Amino acid sequence: MWRSRANLQSRPCLTLYYNALLPSATICFALSTVEKVAIKESTLERVHRARSVFVLTGAGVSAESGVPTFRGGGGATVWKGMPFEVISSAAMIERDLVAVWEWFDYRRELLRNLKPNPAHTTLARWGRKYERFTLATQNIDGLHAAAGSENVLELHGTIWKARCLRCDARKSLRREERADDSRRERPPLCEVCGEAMRPDVVLFGEMLSDKVLERAAEAAEGCDICFVIGTSGVVYPAAGLAEIAKGAGAFVIEINPERTALSDVCDETIQGRAGEILPQLRV
Ligand code: OAD
Repeated sequence: MWRSRANLQSRPCLTLYYNALLPSATICFALSTVEKVAIKESTLERVHRARSVFVLTGAGVSAESGVPTFRGGGGATVWKGMPFEVISSAAMIERDLVAVWEWFDYRRELLRNLKPNPAHTTLARWGRKYERFTLATQNIDGLHAAAGSENVLELHGTIWKARCLRCDARKSLRREERADDSRRERPPLCEVCGEAMRPDVVLFGEMLSDKVLERAAEAAEGCDICFVIGTSGVVYPAAGLAEIAKGAGAFVIEINPERTALSDVCDETIQGRAGEILPQLRV
């Protein structure tokens, strides 16, 4: 019934289910008046006793750091009149690589001064406490690592690196000048082979790294508890990881202020903000 590891890989590329987005504005409005739900004692116990934990995060985990989410709250991101699924698509690399750089430069500048929030720091602490712990994120912002999480599986890559279009060499963008610096080269050229570079992120229409996805799927399949935090659950194959965990018998807990496309897969939804809920869980 639930997705398995084998059919997770059979999905050819980053896929978005538009139909899953349609009800979100209505749901958000309806739930915004709901009182904060207390966390059940049985859930606190379960979380405390778990030995193997898998966590899937999305944009919502960084919302309290000031990073805008893509969906939820009734809106969707548009940049220079283009929906973000268009500017963040593989086709744009061919069509207008400079525009792709401008979009990611803009997003990197927004991130430059932002700090991890209590959701990130709690998950970093969990990584040191649980016997087996895997954190997979759809976020490209680097905030889990900034909070001290190790071995984060960055399913959609990272905004902090460039990758060569020809030889795959990577270059850190951490120390680059600011976006308004006219000396900055766009696209940057590879120091190894001289070819143009692109942001080291997964775009719509592209495959995720097999290695990263396989490691995440393996952890999802072997966990006692799976947390699904701050994601609308509409982008695959990442969202399928929660289904793998469920199919393999894990208890799946969602943390999100809104209901999502994955809520029905979850055994429990804790409605609230990740930065407020996570520190309340006893690990
Ligand atoms: P979305 O923007 O689709 O969803 C964000 C989710 O976070 C929504 O369900 C919100 O309700 C929830 N949320 C908002 N504030 C929160 C908070 N304080 N605590 C917990 N949850 C909160 O983001 P993703 O699901 O991550 O891919 O989107 C998946 C992918 O779509 C992204 O990785 C990105 C995007 O296109 C690429 O760009 C390749």
